[in-house]
Amino acid sequence: MSNKPLHVVILAAGKGSRMRSELPKVLHQVAGKSLLGHVIDSALELKPVQVHVVVGHGKDLVIDSFAEHASNQRLNWVEQTEQLGTGHAVSQALPFIDGSSDPDGDSANVLMLTADVPLIRSSTLSAMVSAMNSSPLALLTALVDDPFGLGRITRDESGSVSGIVEQKDADSEQSKINEINSGIICADLEQLKIWLSQVSNDNAQQEFYLTDVVSIAYAAGNPVAALHPENNTEVTGINSRLQLSQVERLFQAEQAERLMNDGVTIMDPARIDIRGDVEVGSDSVIDVNVVLQGRVRIGRNVYIAPNCVIIDSILADNVTVHPNTVIEGSELGAHVNVGPFARLRAGTKLAEKVKIGNFVETKNAQLDVGAKVNHLSYVGDATVGSNTNIGAGVITCNYDGANKHKTTIGKDVFVGSDSQLVAPVEIEDGATIGAGSTITTKVEANKLAISRGKQRQIDGWTRPTKAR
Ligand code: UD1
Ligand code: MG
Repeated sequence: MSNKPLHVVILAAGKGSRMRSELPKVLHQVAGKSLLGHVIDSALELKPVQVHVVVGHGKDLVIDSFAEHASNQRLNWVEQTEQLGTGHAVSQALPFIDGSSDPDGDSANVLMLTADVPLIRSSTLSAMVSAMNSSPLALLTALVDDPFGLGRITRDESGSVSGIVEQKDADSEQSKINEINSGIICADLEQLKIWLSQVSNDNAQQEFYLTDVVSIAYAAGNPVAALHPENNTEVTGINSRLQLSQVERLFQAEQAERLMNDGVTIMDPARIDIRGDVEVGSDSVIDVNVVLQGRVRIGRNVYIAPNCVIIDSILADNVTVHPNTVIEGSELGAHVNVGPFARLRAGTKLAEKVKIGNFVETKNAQLDVGAKVNHLSYVGDATVGSNTNIGAGVITCNYDGANKHKTTIGKDVFVGSDSQLVAPVEIEDGATIGAGSTITTKVEANKLAISRGKQRQIDGWTRPTKAR
């Protein structure tokens, strides 16, 4: 790679009218991450001095949405108050680019990206920067079946790149060219300043086109490098909702392929959605309509049944998740069995071989090895000891209307069905709770606690009859 300092400029000021949206185009999402977020993350992998993001339409929303971004301090927001074209947009960022940190002189490489081309890979971008060793300008171009709407690459008799013609300015011969401009361009800072100062808006859209720097550089005798991406999906641009959905599917297909390459069986690669940083161990099986979101780590030999959503969670080896289960902010130990229709909320920690059955909700609950909650229960703000069995319909009453309280249940406890444990409360090891009890005070070890009304029988009972 060229050893000049690298600055990245991302163009994100446009309105994106074709999206027909209140939301700025660059904040629309692919795989749960904004288009701009994808481009920023790929750019940051190159370790640039700074990433300058040119914003205009909806700029406050755009800037605010990155307030928590891990590399926020490396982002420089540049405002383009009027959207006069991509060349004008880059010009707004140039004053912020300082080439003086270059050890060999006062310069820098400027890598220009557009926020609406989100699948671009950092490996392709670093190839662009490497090309700067032999030319002051490098383009990323692609040969496509349908070039309509995109800038076309013109070449001279010797095959060298001589310019870019926009769709709206192309004559009928130029429209037939199927080599297109991806919109990704890298240039030497000093040369770029000179070229951009010569760009005019004398064209069909009356805009200052960044793409015009190519013919200007060529006319001045500069060699222009043209690189292709590894795969054309990388340079797919998004201008409409249809293209957004197409890019989402392309991205998801790549994610599914990556997991299958890691040894995961995916029942239908078209029916899985991965929205985040997800790793799955080999011999795991993911059934249809599963959404994996945020940071998810799934071990080996795990089975995820249809219609499950797993967010920011860790699942150890040999876990089974039955259908229609939602797991968020949870940690599941080996051989845990969950669902169907279970909901594990933040702070749920299940040790090995825990079993959570249907219609059970847990929150901030730590269950030790082999504990079971099989049916229709709520376990919140609780610890449950090993091998404890919680019967059907048990509720930890953790909220008094103002504050949350804790329920502590020991090991080998048996909680009978339909009991309420009114927190704060403790149930010691080996205790038994009779079904239908409301427990409000500590239950001592190995004792039976029962708090329901005594059963009575009324002789000669006649049922009420319906009034006429
Ligand atoms: C641009 C290229 C075209 C290329 C295509 C690839 C130009 C003139 N054309 O066309 O050759 O094939 O991308 O996707 O560069 N933007 C600003 N400020 C402006 C105008 C645009 O920040 O004043 C931003 C937009 O938000 C967008 C990017 O620049 O992220 C590209 O603008 P867009 O209008 O989408 O250009 P295209 O018509 O797609
Ligand atoms: Mg575009």
